[in-house]
Amino acid sequence: MALERTLSIIKPDAVAKNVIGEIYSRFEKVGLKIAAAKMKQLSRAEAEGFYAVHRERPFFNALVEFMISGPVMIQVLEGENAVLKHRDLMGATNPKEAAAGTIRADFADSIDANAVHGSDAAETAAFEIAYFFPSTDVYGR
Ligand code: PPS
Repeated sequence: MALERTLSIIKPDAVAKNVIGEIYSRFEKVGLKIAAAKMKQLSRAEAEGFYAVHRERPFFNALVEFMISGPVMIQVLEGENAVLKHRDLMGATNPKEAAAGTIRADFADSIDANAVHGSDAAETAAFEIAYFFPSTDVYGR
């Protein structure tokens, strides 16, 4: 399996809980490397653009409001099967349905404040990584 990249966002609720290091440690334990990272306060336009695919969904405005409620930590993760590996670490979107030991089971409070985002496919990851990082700022190893 070739090396893959995925975009991870530690959302405002998890940043506020001071668990960035704990979440990074989970990435590293399964062999995902940090290839790029930055903390950022998203503007409304940036959050709306990032989630544009969900524009028509009933939760779109709530999602955007939440994502701009505080700084987020954004990173590119690199490793074998990175998209799926990261999704497995995160757990289900709704923390009530997330498997024990996943990031959302451990740190998310609700489906609205669910701690982390991860790309859902390699094609989505390519768009999402380019949305936040110029290719010169991503350091494959
Ligand atoms: S889907 O159907 O697979 O596209 O939807 P899903 O991936 O579950 O959700 C897309 C993103 O919307 C967030 N979400 C919500 N936010 C607020 N309220 C509700 N009810 C809600 N349902 C889903 C969900 O966390 C996804 O955001 P990311 O950042 O990708 O995790």
